[in-house]
Amino acid sequence: MTRTLFIGLIGCTLAASVGWAVAPSYSLSKAAAPRQTQSHLAPPAAPPSACRYSDKTTYFPQGSPTYAVLDTALRLPSGWKPASLVKISAGATLQPSAAKAWRDMRKAAKRAGVTLHAVSAYRSESYQLTVFNRNVRRHGRAHALKFVARPGHSEHQLGLTVDIGYAPGTAVTSEVLVHPKTRNQKVAAWLGARAWRYGWVRSYPKGKVAATCYESEPWHWRYVGPAKAADVRAARVTLRSYLWHLRPQ
Ligand code: DAL
Ligand code: ZN
Repeated sequence: MTRTLFIGLIGCTLAASVGWAVAPSYSLSKAAAPRQTQSHLAPPAAPPSACRYSDKTTYFPQGSPTYAVLDTALRLPSGWKPASLVKISAGATLQPSAAKAWRDMRKAAKRAGVTLHAVSAYRSESYQLTVFNRNVRRHGRAHALKFVARPGHSEHQLGLTVDIGYAPGTAVTSEVLVHPKTRNQKVAAWLGARAWRYGWVRSYPKGKVAATCYESEPWHWRYVGPAKAADVRAARVTLRSYLWHLRPQ
């Protein structure tokens, strides 16, 4: 079964298919990435609070928004924007640290024969409102709330997040791989196996909506740096759960 649904502005296509999965088979050059070791973070004793809708200002662990939890309840201070943004492709910008990590990852993927496209990167609070409203108009509010953050609540506003596509204007779609030769699945498999080495974590994995507050988004990757990304992977928790435990207690 394949179903296609269009997600607002970026026109993401979600082809969720029941079938079989393909083990990633890309050999990569040795990236300057951390070796994955035991996580420094024990599995959380208590999960983050249940998802609800609120507009509470989030915490900046270590004084930095890099590790801020953004969900349906926690948001950035009104009008917050990154101090610096650099262009990564036409119409797409990121904070410098994420931009470098994006370029490094893109080069590594290219060497493995996989081309990554930045479909959507930094989004201002006002642009997020445009994205949200457009999705509401197209699909209704209930649908929009499952896939699009309300303004102030989006990880895109951090300038540390990219929606990754397999071609310009598209987004990585599949997590159950049906047609292993398509570009989309090569991208999805490569990202699933390698993105953490460059510091990227998929914020909204499949089947974790209760923990992440959003439906599965194979395209949406947030930069937290290689060490933290390795830690999240080793801890086998969602990014929200991981970041939750970095908050001041
Ligand atoms: N799609 C994610 C939830 C966002 O809008 O930030
Ligand atoms: Zn996104």
